[in-house]
Amino acid sequence: MSIAARNEPLVLGFETSCDETGVGLVRGQTLLADALATSMAEHERFGGVVPEIASRAHLEAMVPTVHRALAEAGVQASDVDAVAVTAGPGLTGALLVGLAAAKAYALALDKPLYGVNHLAAHVAVDELQHGRLAEPSMALLVSGGHSSLLLVPDLAREVRSMGRTIDDAAGEAFDKVARVLGMPFPGGPPIDRAAREGDPTAIDFPRGLTGPRDAPYDFSFSGLKTAVARWVEARQRAGEPVPVADVAASFQEAVADVLTAKAVRACRDAGIDHLVLGGGVAANSRLRALAEERCAAAGIVLRVPSPRLCTDNGAMVAALGSRLVEAGIPPSAPDVGADSSLPIEVVTR
Ligand code: KG4
Ligand code: ZN
Repeated sequence: MSIAARNEPLVLGFETSCDETGVGLVRGQTLLADALATSMAEHERFGGVVPEIASRAHLEAMVPTVHRALAEAGVQASDVDAVAVTAGPGLTGALLVGLAAAKAYALALDKPLYGVNHLAAHVAVDELQHGRLAEPSMALLVSGGHSSLLLVPDLAREVRSMGRTIDDAAGEAFDKVARVLGMPFPGGPPIDRAAREGDPTAIDFPRGLTGPRDAPYDFSFSGLKTAVARWVEARQRAGEPVPVADVAASFQEAVADVLTAKAVRACRDAGIDHLVLGGGVAANSRLRALAEERCAAAGIVLRVPSPRLCTDNGAMVAALGSRLVEAGIPPSAPDVGADSSLPIEVVTR
């Protein structure tokens, strides 16, 4: 590491908004550690994340995960210059565990604490791989908990909502459709795999909110999910086999089509030529390919972090914390609380 890099602040980041306990260490824009524990398997039989189980798992995983992150980065806790933590949006009980841990470390180390927005952190993480974000950029965040289109004039100070889902999140639709098809939770990866063998044009599933009078940047996946369930049920009632690969491919195509069309349109309308993808669904192979194709055709530079950094992790929170330190943003109050529905406009609270 260069001497200049050593002068950059070392930020410890905590992420506990859902079922991943993430602890990351970032120096400037350099990723040093990304330690993760997950309670995903404990939620599988319920078909979705159970908040109480997630909170308890965070509590058990927290200290060992911090120790792993420090060891991975080869630093001591006393080297840390600032602490960042997801303050929302997310599951309140789960957020509280991360906040309590972050406050304890900040207090014990006598370092500033930044309570940050989870969605802005999903955008910030891309800087660890692709360098400084062009500003303004557009960001499409798609996961099990969110589907948002964001305009980012200044990641440390100003993030605006362009649109969001009015019902299910994109990842939630993947999870529910996977269930209908008898696949495990979370449903994104098995659908992605099955779709490779299927025909994306086999079934013409509906594209939500794409009519001329519909909100151009909002999403809706609940109608699509129901359409898939009805289609599968009709086949089963008729005693015919369900062509799983074709259903998976056609469903995935409908999601990728709507997401990329709306993101590209938002870029065009706002005159923005940089698009960042984030969230667990950004790991989807068809979404990545179609985004690549449509951005290239529209002259938009596409940035997508590696799948590991797209899903929830502590490094993304540390990355945003580092940005805030660099921008001279004042730290949060020591008693900063959790806000399960923290608005996207609030980058730090
Ligand atoms: O960001 P994430 O790890 O957690 C939050 O929900 O915040 O996203 C998890 C979601 C799940 O719904 C999962 O099914 C979806 O991301 N996912 C995928 C893929 N990998 C994960 N969806 C589609 N294709 C994938 N390859
Ligand atoms: Zn997330």
